[in-house]
Amino acid sequence: MTFNIIILSLFFFIGFLLNSSSAQVIGRNELYPQCSTRGNFTANSTFDSNLKTFFSSLTSNKTANLKFYNTTVGRGGETVYGLFMCRGDVGNQDVCRQCVADSTLEVGSVCPFSKEAVTWRDLCLVRYSDRNFFSTVNTRPRLRMLNPNNVSNQSGFMNVLTFIMNQSADEASKSAVMKKKFKMNAVAVEFQTLYVLVQCTPDLSSADCRRCLSGVIGDFRWCCDGKIGGRVVYPSCLARYELYRFFNSSTPVPPVTLSPPPALLSPPNPVKRKRRLRTILIAVASPVGAMILLCFAYYLSKNQIKKIRMAFLMRKYFGSESNTLEPLQFSLATIEAATNKFSKQTSLGRGGFGEVYKGILSNGQEIAVKRLSKSSGQGAEEFKNEVLLIATLQHRNLVALLGFCIEEQEKILIYEYVPNRSLDYFLFGSQESKVLNWEERHKIIGGVARGILYLHDYSRVKIIHRDLKPSNILLDDEMNPKISDFGMARMVGFNDIEGSTNKIVGTYGYMSPEYAMFGQYSEKSDAFSFGVIVLEVISGKKITSSPDQSHGLLNYAWNQWKEEKILEILDSNLNESESLNEVNKCIQIGLLCVQENPEARPSMATVVSYLSNDSIQLPFPQEPAFFLEGQMELNTDSKESINEMSISEFYPR
Ligand SMILES: *[C@@H]1O[C@H](CO)[C@@H](O)[C@H](O)[C@H]1NC(C)=O
Ligand SMILES: *[C@@H]1O[C@H](CO)[C@@H](O)[C@H](O)[C@H]1NC(C)=O
Ligand SMILES: *[C@@H]1O[C@H](CO)[C@@H](O)[C@H](O)[C@H]1NC(C)=O
Ligand SMILES: *[C@@H]1O[C@H](CO)[C@@H](O)[C@H](O)[C@H]1NC(C)=O
Ligand SMILES: *[C@@H]1O[C@H](CO)[C@@H](O)[C@H](O)[C@H]1NC(C)=O
Ligand SMILES: *[C@@H]1O[C@H](CO)[C@@H](O)[C@H](O)[C@H]1NC(C)=O
Ligand SMILES: *[C@@H]1O[C@H](CO)[C@@H](O)[C@H](O)[C@H]1NC(C)=O
Ligand SMILES: *[C@@H]1O[C@H](CO)[C@@H](O)[C@H](O)[C@H]1NC(C)=O
Ligand SMILES: *[C@@H]1O[C@H](CO)[C@@H](O)[C@H](O)[C@H]1NC(C)=O
Ligand SMILES: *[C@@H]1O[C@H](CO)[C@@H](O)[C@H](O)[C@H]1NC(C)=O
Repeated sequence: MTFNIIILSLFFFIGFLLNSSSAQVIGRNELYPQCSTRGNFTANSTFDSNLKTFFSSLTSNKTANLKFYNTTVGRGGETVYGLFMCRGDVGNQDVCRQCVADSTLEVGSVCPFSKEAVTWRDLCLVRYSDRNFFSTVNTRPRLRMLNPNNVSNQSGFMNVLTFIMNQSADEASKSAVMKKKFKMNAVAVEFQTLYVLVQCTPDLSSADCRRCLSGVIGDFRWCCDGKIGGRVVYPSCLARYELYRFFNSSTPVPPVTLSPPPALLSPPNPVKRKRRLRTILIAVASPVGAMILLCFAYYLSKNQIKKIRMAFLMRKYFGSESNTLEPLQFSLATIEAATNKFSKQTSLGRGGFGEVYKGILSNGQEIAVKRLSKSSGQGAEEFKNEVLLIATLQHRNLVALLGFCIEEQEKILIYEYVPNRSLDYFLFGSQESKVLNWEERHKIIGGVARGILYLHDYSRVKIIHRDLKPSNILLDDEMNPKISDFGMARMVGFNDIEGSTNKIVGTYGYMSPEYAMFGQYSEKSDAFSFGVIVLEVISGKKITSSPDQSHGLLNYAWNQWKEEKILEILDSNLNESESLNEVNKCIQIGLLCVQENPEARPSMATVVSYLSNDSIQLPFPQEPAFFLEGQMELNTDSKESINEMSISEFYPR
């Protein structure tokens, strides 16, 4: 029987290719200072004079022989924390000094009243803030630049790049705190030499430096996949690579000849490998196979083949769980009858991985049918996850999975039908959508919290949702929230508190910084998304909107809340003078959840207890996670045209 299944698998082999998304180009014509939009200082204030002192210290005799310098000027609320760093290979002190002097002038004129700013040049970094940022990893704002020319042989290039960058990062981060953290390296690739350089600011610990560099290295896949040159710079660390020697060194940097595992140079390609396996199998098994197949054709009716194939698919998808899941299986015919053959009239809209239809089963039950797109191959992984996960879940604040269907090329999920659209429709929808009153909003906040708590703590396996946002929260006819879309969720064993992934899924704005930067997800990254949702529900504003023209919602909410201007945050459609205490508490919970430090964020169990017990004293939140909202601004800023060609001017050869 096993052998038959192998034969069948030759014919019904499905290869899943998860195409990585195309690189996004972020570019400016120049490296230029980034000014924080967090706030301005006033002219002639103490901060102003402290900043001037800081600027002049950078080019004073005191720092004349330094390549890195950090300092603190003033005290109390008017303190300036600042540093400069020259690139590790800059040998000539005058070059370093000149670069710092130029940067200082530039940052002073571009960001005249900014409380914090950072500027990178090719050879140095200058940075200051009113907050103490020493010894902390800061990854925003960030710049990524690329040379748009492609490498001639893409095969394995990025793997070699990542490998050598990793190795360099390991070495650079080894040195002690306040010691230079820098490494340049070279490696031979296909008659050419790949030069790389990585550096952290020395105030970081080894672990922090390595973590920062991991973020930078990961970013190259986004900006510079297969390009002949690229740079990624964060406030705390940076990396660059080129196919020419762009750094100075008194000692030659001989190209390392990699003797990596063969998988490194030709990247492990699951499809190719399977194809090879398939070829081998065909070669070995074809005479025998043809015989057996003939027998099959003779002795098995079409239906029987179909049954075997179904059983095979079940096993392929669900392994040992296929028996448990069998009762949940729907036939394609049932689904087609329920949805009138997926007619346009029954379509509810498109989700991440395919179209969603409304159906009515023959017994009158309403269902929502999510049909994963056939061709892309994308979503197969998610499909599997979703079935395995949701089949075991039961909670009133989670959308229930009724069943699924795998037949032909179809992958379909069947859910309970939730009648009242999703939360985003009511929050940010059109004019005619009903305005939710405070009572409903409060109920929604509580329901979502309990739903997430169930996922985190009470389901059979711990589940991190990873893509919580209003459009994934559906509302039933009594406006009870139901969390949906588990395709992106990941099962985490109860012992792994934290996971890490290279494939970052989720939605910008709702992703916690550590997840967006480093792919680290945990319950606390869901807590972050929850906090954003809470603030959106209260304010009726999108996370990306700017109520006061210059700040994001988090920043706005934080500033208003600090000054106890609760009504400024609350949706202006609401008039809730009686519930102000409740509103205030919910805002505080939201702010606690969006703190930068994941450990400081409350667990969902704590959140639920805050919501249900009025006698608990809530802690005071720290400032939420943002620095300059840097990446967002860079990505979307259209004031300057983003032009690949002009970026290439940065990469003279
Ligand atoms: C800070 O000052 C700049 C110009 O000096 C101005 O464009 C910006 O709006 C100011 N920001 C705030 C928050 O006042
Ligand atoms: C700051 O001081 C300078 C010179 O001392 C003066 O010209 C300027 O008007 C002052 N600015 C403000 C806003 O007080
Ligand atoms: C800085 O050093 C230069 C040369 O070493 C000297 O001429 C100058 O007076 C020094 N400046 C201060 C403020 O000490
Ligand atoms: C420079 O940074 C280190 C590491 O955080 C810190 O211990 C030290 O106090 C800083 N120096 C000044 C002058 O602030
Ligand atoms: C680089 O390759 C991509 C596709 O792999 C192509 O779209 C792009 O035009 C190429 N760029 C150059 C400069 O050749
Ligand atoms: C590209 O590189 C791979 C691995 O190094 C090699 O096998 C292949 O022949 C190269 N292709 C071309 C066109 O040079
Ligand atoms: C580089 O390091 C990261 C994390 O440290 C790891 O996930 C990745 O597999 C490494 N890549 C290579 C090619 O060594
Ligand atoms: C929610 O659904 C119920 C039942 O379908 C309906 O009566 C009610 O009007 C809906 N509420 C909103 C706000 O759409
Ligand atoms: C809000 O409600 C109070 C009493 O419930 C009323 O006096 C006040 O005018 C209302 N304000 C608005 C803007 O509707
Ligand atoms: C509410 O919190 C207080 C203080 O933490 C605690 O003493 C009390 O038992 C809690 N009440 C309930 C119903 O959990």
